[in-house]
Amino acid sequence: MKFFVDTADIKEIKELNDLGLVDGVTTNPSLIMKSGGKIADVTKQICDIVEGPVSAEVTATDYDGMMKQAKVLAKIADNIAIKVPLTWDGLKACRALRSDGHMVNVTLCFSANQALLAAKAGATFISPFIGRIDDMGIDGVELISEIRTIYDNYGFKTEILAASIRTVNHVKQVAMIGADVATVPPATLKALVKHPLTDKGLEQFLADWAKTGQTIG
Ligand code: G3P
Repeated sequence: MKFFVDTADIKEIKELNDLGLVDGVTTNPSLIMKSGGKIADVTKQICDIVEGPVSAEVTATDYDGMMKQAKVLAKIADNIAIKVPLTWDGLKACRALRSDGHMVNVTLCFSANQALLAAKAGATFISPFIGRIDDMGIDGVELISEIRTIYDNYGFKTEILAASIRTVNHVKQVAMIGADVATVPPATLKALVKHPLTDKGLEQFLADWAKTGQTIG
C-alpha cells in the first residue's frame, strides 16, 4: 500500500519524505487554508519535494470552470493530479482531463456506486472519505471493502485512495482490505511507529546493557 500524506504543511512533508515514507501528497481547499499560503506557491513547493502524485483540487463547481482551473493547476508541475468532486460536472471533467493525459483524483466519495461511476469516467484515483462516514455512525472502512470488490470484479484500474483517515487502526484496516493508497495526516503516520511494548522493551534492554559496563565501538 502506498502512503500519501494528507497535508499542505511543507515542513511535515519534507520530514516524512526524507524518511522515504511519502509516495504522494493530497491537498484540498481546507488544507491550503490551514497552510496560510497561496495554492500555486504551496503546491509548487510540495511538487519540488515529492516525486509522486500531488493532488491539487479545483474549486469551481461547473465543468467549464473546473477545466479552466485544472489547466492552471496542471501547469504547476508534471506530477499534479487534478482533484475534482464526485458530481456530474466533476465526472465530465474527469473524463476530459484523462483524455488530455492528466492524472485525476475524484474526491468526496461516500458510496460504492459513486466509486463505480468514477472508475467508468477513467479516474486515476478514487477518494472515499472513511472518517466522515464513521462520523455518521456507519462503518467507513466497509466502503473500502465494497469498492475493492467492485473494482476487482471488473478489473478497473482506478486506484482506491482511502481518505479522511483519522486513526492508526484505519490505516491497518484499509491495508488489510487492499486499498492501493492511504492518504494519512502526518500525526497519524508518525503514530504508526508507536507501541508501548517497544518502549518498555527498549527501556529494559538499556537498563541491562548499563549493568554490563560495556560500550560498542
Ligand atoms: O483526504 C481527505 C481529508 O483531508 C479529509 O479528512 O479528517 O477532514 O475528514 P477529514
